[in-house]
Amino acid sequence: MTESISTNYSIPSVMKAAQQNGYGEVRNVLTLRNDVPVPYELSSKQTLIRVHAGSINQIDWKVLNGNFSSLVRLSFPHVPGKDVAGVIVNIGLGVKRFQIGDKVYGNLGMNDGSFAEYVRGDESLFSLKPNNITMEEAAAIPLACQTSYQVLFKKASPPIGMESKILICGGSTATGLYAIQLAKAVGAHVTATCSQRNFSLMEKLGYDITQTNIETNNNRNQLHIIDYNEKDFEHELKGQNYDVVYDCIGGEQQWISAQQVLKCGGQFITIVGDDRKSIISLKSLVSVGSSLINRKFWSIFGSSHHNYIFHFVNQNFQELDDIRTKYIETGKVKPLIDTIYDWQKDDVEALYLLYEKSKSEKAQGKLILKIAHEE
Ligand SMILES: NC(=O)c1ccc[n+]([C@@H]2O[C@H](COP(=O)([O-])OP(=O)(O)OC[C@H]3O[C@@H](n4cnc5c(N)ncnc54)[C@H](OP(=O)(O)O)[C@@H]3O)[C@@H](O)[C@H]2O)c1
Repeated sequence: MTESISTNYSIPSVMKAAQQNGYGEVRNVLTLRNDVPVPYELSSKQTLIRVHAGSINQIDWKVLNGNFSSLVRLSFPHVPGKDVAGVIVNIGLGVKRFQIGDKVYGNLGMNDGSFAEYVRGDESLFSLKPNNITMEEAAAIPLACQTSYQVLFKKASPPIGMESKILICGGSTATGLYAIQLAKAVGAHVTATCSQRNFSLMEKLGYDITQTNIETNNNRNQLHIIDYNEKDFEHELKGQNYDVVYDCIGGEQQWISAQQVLKCGGQFITIVGDDRKSIISLKSLVSVGSSLINRKFWSIFGSSHHNYIFHFVNQNFQELDDIRTKYIETGKVKPLIDTIYDWQKDDVEALYLLYEKSKSEKAQGKLILKIAHEE
């Protein structure tokens, strides 16, 4: 039932949208259509967003490939895309936090997504867009930045702050780039692994890069980098009492190596786990479950008490508000963009290239899908 108020925006009945029609390779299961119905019927708490930009995350191609199909069943056709930035063009009668015309950003989760001209979502999914950045930059933030925000400030105990020493495995990943900036913003001592190819990315963040191992960091602008192709962080940092190792790469070796660099009681927080491909089956769930129990057992009864934590991002608009006001609008955290793909220019090829680049795991910052020009 429609419970929306009247809007001055003229909303068409059909729109351009990506549609996933099954699980498989992007060129086999994703299409771009011009006749997808606009989801204009709103319940009381829903908003309708005119999408300006979306961004891809690794979970998007993993879901497309069916890696999570035993856990999350999509109904087809499904509109993909989690990160969104756009303008609210209509609201349900019970929407309290927004008005028509507000610019917002958010993470849509497993609902129908942002690779469409319009998307409908509960108001709790969105926050006001930071006012110092473009729509494309805003779309680069929600999922990746919020994941790292939650790891650093909600999962790490105590939360990362002035006194913390943190190692970020995968400093050039989208999540890693946000983690470095968030940790630096609160004055932490930060070391990150990253290949030589991406040293220039770190410089774009504005830090003094050093490859020299520094046990204490009095220069808060200094970032210690370990080229993972040249050196193992385990050997470089052995015995250096890190409070937290934040793993954005995955694989069992990260956990094994991390135990050499963590302090007694230190935390290993991974957002990937042992299986880098994240193919979830009953067998893999049983194996993940038993290795988690094993690691938890040793974190309590072992001599070093290293904590193993797997974190999966959850949606929370108050955190997006915090990210906007404390970190983005103050200029302490910047979204770095690798490429903006434009389907008005390149049609469905823009979508295919977006997915293929994400799947290559070679992105140097976020990959954006531009959907409409900013007014
Ligand atoms: N659990 C959650 O809630 C959650 C949320 C977000 C993301 N994730 C997961 O986190 C992982 C990272 O995602 P992302 O989007 O941040 O990554 P991304 O931006 O796609 O990562 C690309 C970067 O990874 C670097 N890289 C690849 N292999 C590496 C290695 N062995 N060591 C260090 N760097 C390496 C690449 O640089 P070079 O190869 O040139 O070094 C490239 O710059 C994915 O597995 C994703 O599914 C989980």
